Amino acid sequence: MKSLFIAGNWKCNKTIAEARDWLQAFKNQSPLPANATIVLCVPCTLLNFLKAELPIALGAQNVSPFPDGAYTGEVSAKMIKELADWVIIGHSERRKYFGETDEVLKEKVVRAKEVGLKIIYCVSDDKTAVPDGIDVVAYEPVWAIGTGKTDTPDNANHVIEMIKKKSRVTTVIYGGSVTPDNVASFVRELSIDGVLPGGASLHPEIFFQLISAAS
Ligand code: PGA
Repeated sequence: MKSLFIAGNWKCNKTIAEARDWLQAFKNQSPLPANATIVLCVPCTLLNFLKAELPIALGAQNVSPFPDGAYTGEVSAKMIKELADWVIIGHSERRKYFGETDEVLKEKVVRAKEVGLKIIYCVSDDKTAVPDGIDVVAYEPVWAIGTGKTDTPDNANHVIEMIKKKSRVTTVIYGGSVTPDNVASFVRELSIDGVLPGGASLHPEIFFQLISAAS
């Protein structure tokens, strides 16, 4: 059976009360497949709460490019590492709305590696630079994010092959409007090692259906 990597991305969603409801409902779903590494990437405000009880791995969605210090509003890699094992770096929404450049993202990767955080690094094509030391690359075409439109599995497989060749990262996943209905068509492709669902991870039953349909 193929090993899969599935990372949910809650983006800027959920209060602690809402996360509690999600957790309760997700825990009622079983069994989780043995062949999948499953990570849930949540806002920093939820990490401490979820850390104690989440039956899957936990990740943040962003990290400061700076170490601890006089950087008002930032959350450092050291702080995240206390609560989570994974972090998403370079999501297209960070690049678009927060002006994050390849240079800034490189610094974020350095900070994350310094403390041993594992990194999911997002790119929108096979031309975007992938820094050294990345654990998982997510190929996410910008036009497919949150739109209900997906890349074709065949093209996603082709782009991912190219990313693997260039970056030498061995785990590369697809993201962009992945649902329980279409996930199997992606993961059955030879080079696609998993998926990064956003919207479909917000609902516990749908997220579990997606995981089951992929595995
Ligand atoms: P989506 O988001 O599944 O809602 O399209 C994916 C992502 O942005 O990671």
